[in-house]
Amino acid sequence: MVKYADRITALPPYLFAEVDRAKQQKVREGVDVIDLGVGDPDTPTPDYVIESLCEAVRKPETHQYPSYSGSNVFRDAAARWCAERFGVRLDPAAEVITLIGSKEGIAHIPLAFVNRGDYTLCPNPAYPVYGIGTTLADGVPYDMPLREENGFRPDLSAVPKDVLRKAKMLFINYPNNPTAAVADKAFLREVVDFGRDHGIVVVSDNAYSEIAYDGYRAPSILEVPGAMDCCIEFHSLSKTSNMTGWRIGFAAGNADAVAGLGKVKMNVDSGAFLAVQLAGIDALRRSREFLPGLNRTYQARRDALCAGLRSMGLKVTPPKATFYVWAPVPPEYTSIEYAKYLLDQAGIVGTPGVGFGKYGEGYVRFSLTSPLERINLAVERMRQL
Ligand SMILES: Cc1ncc(COP(=O)(O)O)c(C=O)c1O
Repeated sequence: MVKYADRITALPPYLFAEVDRAKQQKVREGVDVIDLGVGDPDTPTPDYVIESLCEAVRKPETHQYPSYSGSNVFRDAAARWCAERFGVRLDPAAEVITLIGSKEGIAHIPLAFVNRGDYTLCPNPAYPVYGIGTTLADGVPYDMPLREENGFRPDLSAVPKDVLRKAKMLFINYPNNPTAAVADKAFLREVVDFGRDHGIVVVSDNAYSEIAYDGYRAPSILEVPGAMDCCIEFHSLSKTSNMTGWRIGFAAGNADAVAGLGKVKMNVDSGAFLAVQLAGIDALRRSREFLPGLNRTYQARRDALCAGLRSMGLKVTPPKATFYVWAPVPPEYTSIEYAKYLLDQAGIVGTPGVGFGKYGEGYVRFSLTSPLERINLAVERMRQL
């Protein structure tokens, strides 16, 4: 009776749902599973954000429909944060929009710029939503391989001319999920020039900008001269203030790109809960006092996990940013086989690289969002394999 539209049947199975199914099966079998699969912060949202929400939620004016593009005070705070963090000056009214989590904005933006059959240039492996948002807009994702020998950065000169003619958007994501690679300003300049030269909207997903180690500070593409001509950058409070469940983020950049996304959103949602936006202001304002401790926690986990992976003979490079470790699997395994081996033999969940796209084959992604004791236990189990 019920027949799905082609755009729905064209979607790949959502990766994390598959991994979760295999994990749940093991749990049902009584295995003490250590989940290094999904990247969802395990430590709580800071108290000052919770207090701020409690206060805001008692105010009846927060109970009504919020404004479509976000409350002025939240957008002001986002612009202020971008100025302090990246030295980027933004007009909050025209160049910033509140999102119900950055995933929502990333999934919706192709609807504003992609016509049927147009291309979007998507990194591969990648966070799946770039390609999925494109498919839902009847566009075609064009894979740009991220190869280790190129520092997991796409080779923009390799995009064929006929693809380029029909390309409307380019997605980049540094610090990168899943490879944990970072990008320098020179690469970001190349991306801005490419977007300007070809009339392409550049979407920079900067969800992991604040999760960094060893003194590394991730840049924003908006710092690059000319970026405001063609770029929009997505930011999320999910990872930077442990607020994944709260659904709050923002996009900032070129006013037409922001307005295009705003037009889509105005017609499909009614904005982020105002009380959450008000709490988000405190999250942004006080992130500098929260982040050093959070990053120390992840860094200790990173060091423990990398040591364990090396003990199994995996050649891992400790990441400078993100809470992921991207590890090459032994050559005799595919990434799915290796993830299955780890789950079956050690009760450890890792995400097979191929789940992020075909160029992720040969790798497995581990997330650092489990307590150090669990990571140490995982390492112990790895040593026994
Ligand atoms: C690269 C990347 N971008 C965006 C998101 C979405 O984050 P949120 O929707 O919670 O802001 C994620 C979440 O895992 C991610 O890994």
